[in-house]
Amino acid sequence: MNTVVEGFSKLTKEEKIDWLAKNYTRDPESSKNVLKQYWNTESKVQRLHDEFIENTITNYYLPFGIAPNFLINDRLYAIPMAIEESSVVAAASKAAKFWLERGGFKAQVLGMEKVGQVHFRYKGDHRNLEKFFEFVKPKLISAAKPITENMEKRGGGITHIELRDKTEVMEDYYQLHCTFETLDAMGANFINSCLEEFAKVFKAEAQTFPSFAENEREIDVVMSILSNYVPNCLVRAEVNCPVEALETGESIAPREFAEKMVQAVEIAKIEPHRAVTHNKGIMNGVDAVVLATGNDFRAIEAGVHAYSSRKGQYSSLTHAAIEESTFKFWIEIPLALGTVGGLTSLHPLVKLSLEILQNPTAKELMQIVAVAGLAQNFAALRSLVTTGIQQGHMKMHLMNILNQMGAGEEDKKVLVNYFKTRTVTHSSVKEALEQLRK
Ligand code: MEV
Repeated sequence: MNTVVEGFSKLTKEEKIDWLAKNYTRDPESSKNVLKQYWNTESKVQRLHDEFIENTITNYYLPFGIAPNFLINDRLYAIPMAIEESSVVAAASKAAKFWLERGGFKAQVLGMEKVGQVHFRYKGDHRNLEKFFEFVKPKLISAAKPITENMEKRGGGITHIELRDKTEVMEDYYQLHCTFETLDAMGANFINSCLEEFAKVFKAEAQTFPSFAENEREIDVVMSILSNYVPNCLVRAEVNCPVEALETGESIAPREFAEKMVQAVEIAKIEPHRAVTHNKGIMNGVDAVVLATGNDFRAIEAGVHAYSSRKGQYSSLTHAAIEESTFKFWIEIPLALGTVGGLTSLHPLVKLSLEILQNPTAKELMQIVAVAGLAQNFAALRSLVTTGIQQGHMKMHLMNILNQMGAGEEDKKVLVNYFKTRTVTHSSVKEALEQLRK
């Protein structure tokens, strides 16, 4: 019978594990061993991890891989990726190499605007509210000075505050829609602190604003929070080359390959079922780098998918065209990333990832991440329109299947070699392993 527990967070780690294993697992001793085998008691890292969140009982490891040979704006990068999916790093590396030989990737940040909103209700004449807004706006900015001062010294801060009337979509609903420049920080804490200050001052000043009628003074603030929808925090990455340079090594002529790639992207533009999978492949690359560099992948995911639907239908993040015998392939993607603050100086692997990336600014990291997404999409589409995805996928998955089947190191070596020229399926691997064991 599962039990309710009081004061769980106050138990020691051992006590938490004992309680959990006893109440929620079939074999408590072996469950405890599973949890403990991931402990890192020898280093300070465990202490750090324990304090990142509440109730840490172990670490959840993901493979950390490197995709080398990315030429981005004429600079070479080895890109760190944290991801569990077998084929992602291999695909990224393959795409990097392909484009390295064709001039590399070019990337450009189109905007860095971050957004936050104070959502409130107001039951009065909207013209009075507008007057109040004009009166109070400088006070909002000066009240936030202690928060914004340092950011301003470095060239950032609040860029715009606007009153938005949303009463057409919800009765009495208005917003302070605010934009920010947060430089190399992702800026969530900075933005939320500013917004909460705005809300406090906005509400307080309304109490004494002379033009308000008595019933107009009560501003009801519902919430103040940043928005992860950042369509103007945008980066573009692209590759291009003459069509005839698209020799893939598969039995497909360069022009046909280019045309198929364009068609594949066109399908993802007009067909949401395909677009979601197409973009999922892009996010394989994006999330892996976002995670390795300690950024918030949930924020990125939410923002990216909202952006993909901004025209009313979910659509492709990438674009492709053949223009005067040049093949062009590019992505535009909103990425609110940081290279200072958050986990960046706390998590040793995150710190090292940033060092491997040559300590990028937020703008440079946006470019690198966009390129990782574009490369991933190129690799996926290249397989899809030529050999099909399964060949490469199953090759990479072979090791997982062999591990699942408990193959020894020698058997693995033999079978990896054997499957170089054969189709990998669960049953073909099983059969080959059985043959070998005989
Ligand atoms: C698998 O993780 C991603 C792909 O499905 C992406 C795509 O279909 O474009 C291969």
